[in-house]
Amino acid sequence: AKYTIVDQETCIACGACGATAPDLFDYDFEGLAFASLDDNEGAAKVPAELEMDLEDALDGCPTDSIKVAEQPFTPKEALGR
Ligand code: F3S
Repeated sequence: AKYTIVDQETCIACGACGATAPDLFDYDFEGLAFASLDDNEGAAKVPAELEMDLEDALDGCPTDSIKVAEQPFTPKEALGR
């Protein structure tokens, strides 16, 4: 299983992730991305059919702000939200 969050400390609101994986990433009022599955808590399992989109978004982020793990993220790791 995969879990994901966006580090909003380093996201530059480039908009690539939401274009690549519209079901996984959305933007806040500042244009900063967040994982839309669970409001960037990283505790919701990425649906298997979206794992490919996740990989593409991960590869496409210019600032490496998309974090992916095999385990749910802890609240402390869910940076910036
Ligand atoms: Fe931010 Fe990277 Fe998405 S810079 S908008 S997390 S592609």
